Amino acid sequence: MPSSDDDAPAWHQLAEHFAAGARLFDLRAAFRSDAGRFDHFSQAAPHVFADLSKNLLDRTAEELLLRLAEQRGVTRRRDAMFAGESINATEGRAVMHWLLREPAGDTGRLDAQRREVHATLERMLAYAEEVRADEGITDVVNIGIGGSDLGPQMAALALAEHAAPGRRLHFVSNVDGHELAAVLRQVQPRTTLFLIASKTFTTLETMTNAHTARDWFLAQGGQDVARHFAALTTNVEAAAAFGISTTFGFWDWVGGRYSLWSAIGLPVAIAIGADGFRQLLAGAHAMDRHFCEAPPESNLPLRLGLLDVWYRNFHGFTSRSVAPYHSGLRRLPAYLQQLEMESNGKRVDLAGRPLSRGTSPVVWGEPGTNGQHAYFQMLHQGTDVVPLEFIAVRDAAHSLPLHQPRLLANALAQAQALMLGKKDAGGHKDFPGNRPSTFLVLERLGPAELGALIALYEHRVFVSGAVWGINSFDQWGVELGKVLAKDIESRLASGDATGLDASTAGLLQRLRGPALS
Ligand code: F6P
Repeated sequence: MPSSDDDAPAWHQLAEHFAAGARLFDLRAAFRSDAGRFDHFSQAAPHVFADLSKNLLDRTAEELLLRLAEQRGVTRRRDAMFAGESINATEGRAVMHWLLREPAGDTGRLDAQRREVHATLERMLAYAEEVRADEGITDVVNIGIGGSDLGPQMAALALAEHAAPGRRLHFVSNVDGHELAAVLRQVQPRTTLFLIASKTFTTLETMTNAHTARDWFLAQGGQDVARHFAALTTNVEAAAAFGISTTFGFWDWVGGRYSLWSAIGLPVAIAIGADGFRQLLAGAHAMDRHFCEAPPESNLPLRLGLLDVWYRNFHGFTSRSVAPYHSGLRRLPAYLQQLEMESNGKRVDLAGRPLSRGTSPVVWGEPGTNGQHAYFQMLHQGTDVVPLEFIAVRDAAHSLPLHQPRLLANALAQAQALMLGKKDAGGHKDFPGNRPSTFLVLERLGPAELGALIALYEHRVFVSGAVWGINSFDQWGVELGKVLAKDIESRLASGDATGLDASTAGLLQRLRGPALS
């Protein structure tokens, strides 16, 4: 049976438009012939200004993409998500991370959940303030992985300038003991608070690190587990069985990679305080409103998600690079990798039928200007076109006079160079140009701006996932490796390679055997 991603007439119109000339679209010619191009393809959204004009996109393609969104039911699916319907069908769950950032107060819909959300939020923020006031706690160690690590870690780094000085925040995710060992060398049991962050409270890495941390704490003479360990989880019983009495819960309708706004955000709240955390939520909420209310032609998540579809399914670009020109956003690419690739790295539609079109691009990147001195060569002169996303922050939080203008000039110049290129007689110095980029601008990197930026990315991923007709909210693809690792762990202990493929068997013996020569 064909998959349902074939059924919209706009797919075919877009394909025709692409073949008829849009595939040869030239940015330089487009700016020459259309004086209104910047105005048309740039826009403001809450806390974020976006310039899409340096993309390989003309007005006809944009109109057809908007029509595609309509025909693929993107708005209907968005409204279903915001109505609390079980749109994560393979797990039978609603998708309501947006509810975590809605203001308190009854609105006549989902009021019971809203009240629970705010009761937990108030309790968690009060606890965050207690920890902030407790001079006896000098170190906070967050133990979690995936969504229970990437979001809070990325946000804590981004908002470091807003954090109260004097308390160190550590993030331990990997089951590789080097990570935990390095942190334990720096902390004292008496002055450390461990946050065990796990939606399920079963994840191998997190539970391994949590057990080791508790054993270390007790072995070092630590006394009061209740004071020094707190859990952030939907599995309150498992946290209690672990011996943790301070628990902040959340709900199965919050996906791991969408959980920064829940109790998983506690380390961020400890760093920036209750008011700062509320601003983070308010910024994201403003973007939610924009996504729900802005007309399609000026709806930024919709426009960006459709651009992603255009590049992936018509231009055939398989990756997108992100370059935040703010070192505080250095973990943003890693965060976006989980958000986008775990959400949209799917090969079947909602009914489980194979798709005929490509889905998630590879998302990758490094902060500017560092990336310029590493892989930008390939972006300018390589054989593949990789759309690049710049994120520039206008106001710096420091007052060093030389740096900010140079940083911003570099971001602008790179986008310009990618587009304009440079003709040279010899091949080596020739820049083809016409390389696409999107340019996002924040006024400053504060909690509200960060909240809005992250919600923008969440909804953009939602849009492309909805166009592709996939479930962006499950992640069955991570399960197989987890199961096999259990089997291999026991084989590593016993040496039993029976039934294994020759490569795995050979490597197993190498890893068990005497030191490699
Ligand atoms: O293995 C993938 C995953 O399930 C992610 O989706 C999730 O963010 C991560 O593991 C951590 O899960 P948990 O918060 O339940 O420990």
